[in-house]
Amino acid sequence: MICRKFDPHKDITAAHRIWEETGWLELGSEESLELALEACGVWAAELAGEVECLVLTAPGTMRYLLQELPFTSVCAVVTGRAGRKQGLATFLTAQAVAEAALEGAKVVGLGMFEEGFYNRLGFGTGSYEHIIRFSPSRLITTVEYRPPKRLTVADYKEIHACRLERLKQHGCCSIFSPELTKAHMLEYKNGFGLGYYDGPEGDLSHHAWFSIEGPVEGGSYRVEWLSYQNWQQFLELLSVIQSLGDEVATISLVEPPGIQFQNFVHKPFMGRRISLSGNAEYQIEAHANWQMRLTDLPGCLEKTQLNGTEVHFNCKLNDPIEEYLDHNQKWRGIGGDYILTLGPRSGAKPGSDPKLPTLTASVDAFTRLWLGVLSASALSATRCLHGPPDLLSKLDAFYLPAPHPDWVI
Ligand SMILES: CC(C)(COP(=O)(O)OP(=O)(O)OC[C@H]1O[C@@H](n2cnc3c(N)ncnc32)[C@H](O)[C@@H]1OP(=O)(O)O)[C@@H](O)C(=O)NCCC(=O)NCCS
Repeated sequence: MICRKFDPHKDITAAHRIWEETGWLELGSEESLELALEACGVWAAELAGEVECLVLTAPGTMRYLLQELPFTSVCAVVTGRAGRKQGLATFLTAQAVAEAALEGAKVVGLGMFEEGFYNRLGFGTGSYEHIIRFSPSRLITTVEYRPPKRLTVADYKEIHACRLERLKQHGCCSIFSPELTKAHMLEYKNGFGLGYYDGPEGDLSHHAWFSIEGPVEGGSYRVEWLSYQNWQQFLELLSVIQSLGDEVATISLVEPPGIQFQNFVHKPFMGRRISLSGNAEYQIEAHANWQMRLTDLPGCLEKTQLNGTEVHFNCKLNDPIEEYLDHNQKWRGIGGDYILTLGPRSGAKPGSDPKLPTLTASVDAFTRLWLGVLSASALSATRCLHGPPDLLSKLDAFYLPAPHPDWVI
């Protein structure tokens, strides 16, 4: 197997073939693929002289409580039909994570196709995301409706700038490249946006971007993202969604971080009962579909400020990615023995202190603990993390809001 950087001149046909074989190259989305290949760091693996696997990465930031951390998204991992089960995707993803770490990423994240695959590289599963399907006509709005401005793909730069300025909560990610916002917009043929230009210079302050699967009339509408800087703007976007209610039966969206969307739907339980098993069923589904892993433990803890009493302990961290890294790779994962402090001022230094209690964890489990996905005690039930009960209950006392990327990573 040869692992190398993607060569856009030589490898573009192979990229199209691999995308086609995966069913990701629907008619009209070639431009989306080409934009992504240009905007991302792209790694390629060859098997028998053919490129059979590609991994795409893109840098950005992740909000950890009130801090911004350098973040990299592994935005695509794909192997052609003739290259499967040879370890290509695992090996190439491991190299891509290592390169991201060397370039300064403290956290790496991805959207997963299944539990287990990326856990082998130290990725831990994030919080449940709620996907809500509702009738826009049943939205409760409390602000007076103002006609919004129409947005199209041609406005992608200001749309992207607006997304970067949105209200961010714990776990929120932003990817730097505007071209990746454009690529996302182009994935669906009939995407459209509606928004308001209330910024200080008359710039785009808040907007919603929609996609339609199927025909415009009678198709399935989805809010791809909502971007707002305060809750008043959020409420105004709800009134925009509601304005589509005379025409569109149901719209779905991923619940924005920090709110309970059900509170904004009129009689949600009755709506569900009436619509049950019909074509336009109202529902709330939950999926934990993203994963993250730390790539720099001291760097992350330096930015970690938790309310509560300081806790000092040893941490024996096991990083399974090491097994999949090329021998020449300089970054070797973050496994090892550390002395950790968690609290208002946190930190990590190599070593261990016999006077301190010891937590043993995989990077996967420790990342989930650090993010606030699950408590230390709950993680001990997964058998990927263990320590003395007294230490676990001290760690349980730190409260973190549920992390949500609020971006397709
Ligand atoms: C998923 C995909 C990238 C895997 O590519 P691949 O090159 O065949 O993967 P690898 O050879 O590196 O790894 C395969 C091994 O992973 C392991 N594995 C696969 N799924 C796993 C899971 N859910 N849990 C644990 N291990 C898993 C198995 O050991 C498997 O090999 P084996 O069955 O022969 O023992 C490929 O099937 C693909 O492109 N699918 C379509 C696109 C896609 O879904 N991409 C992922 C987007 S997040």
